[in-house]
Amino acid sequence: MTTDQPATRPGNPRFSSGPCAKPPVFSLDKLSDAPLGRSHRAAVGKAKLKAAIDHTREILGVPEGYRIGIVPASDTGAVEMAMWSLLGARPVTMVAWESFGAGWVTDAVKQLKLDADVRTAPYGQIVDMGAIDYDSDVVFTWNGTTSGVRLPHGDMIPADRQGLTICDATSAAFAMDLPWDKLDVVTFSWQKVMGGEAAHGMLILSPRAVERLESHTPPWPLPKIFRLTKGGKLIEGIFKGETINTPSMLAVEDYLLALDWARSIGGLPALIARCDANAAVIARFCAANDWIANLAEDPATASTTSVCLKFTDPGISDGAAFAKAVAKRLEAEGVAFDIGAYRDAPPGLRIWCGATVETSDLEALMPWIAHAYHAERAALA
Ligand SMILES: Cc1ncc(COP(=O)(O)O)c(C=O)c1O
Repeated sequence: MTTDQPATRPGNPRFSSGPCAKPPVFSLDKLSDAPLGRSHRAAVGKAKLKAAIDHTREILGVPEGYRIGIVPASDTGAVEMAMWSLLGARPVTMVAWESFGAGWVTDAVKQLKLDADVRTAPYGQIVDMGAIDYDSDVVFTWNGTTSGVRLPHGDMIPADRQGLTICDATSAAFAMDLPWDKLDVVTFSWQKVMGGEAAHGMLILSPRAVERLESHTPPWPLPKIFRLTKGGKLIEGIFKGETINTPSMLAVEDYLLALDWARSIGGLPALIARCDANAAVIARFCAANDWIANLAEDPATASTTSVCLKFTDPGISDGAAFAKAVAKRLEAEGVAFDIGAYRDAPPGLRIWCGATVETSDLEALMPWIAHAYHAERAALA
């Protein structure tokens, strides 16, 4: 069976899982207030960096007492900075259920050479977070961007834990409720749910994480780009906008625009609602079609940002080639860019449902996926 070409196209075909679609109000001319060609240490630059921190706190509801810093090298920079600076003082548990979490495991085991308790689950499943010893330091990813599997909540993390919880929340921040009392380190990049640029990472530290920084000296060398303390004391300036090295003021201005947009639509509850509505469009589509399914086995763990899909039609013998052909067809039609599954993930599609994506665009995309599936299926026959 083939289907007619759908009549409606998504207004914006950008469904990439990073860099993600810009906010709906974005245009380059709205960045004209960026203090370009000025020092980031001048009052004007410092004020912009501080505003990025303050507005992040406001929109995310980060508690007073938690530090928020802008650090180099996007989310990866923030996660590795935390791992290199904090780990080694206590036993370590490394948790992974997809590619990025697996990368942090490699960091801990192969680079830092820590004798970590490694807990993994295959793509589509999640590690039992209730069976972990939280008196160890625990490193995990809130939303596995490459498997579309996320933590449903943080209830299993004890409030009175002795260890630190270090959470890569790059595809969860601004999209999902993060229980701040259960998280000691939270990292993310502007390029994900806010549709910002990838230059810088955000590093959020609980008071207990700061205590660790000030009481623990890692046994390994720390490059300047990772150093959060000086003379055993936290470098407080980093958390007021005095960045370690030179930031892109254009990227900062762009992030400020995204934060303004977030505030204008109603802040975090509105951002979360947009992601939920977006993911629901795809859930309904999967429920209505027996040839496609969410990679997440338990709907409670299904991501509302990086939705990963697999083709379940038993008539498809080469799943990878099929999924690639579908993604290519959709790209060629100009209706969906960058929705092939991540290179290390099982074959399929990955459709970004973050807050900057319009629900109407996902609704318009679904018939195109059906169209492409049927066309490729017919070609197989
Ligand atoms: C869960 C997760 N961690 C880390 C990264 C790396 O982020 P960045 O490239 O912004 O450093 C990504 C990027 O997609 C991700 O999804």
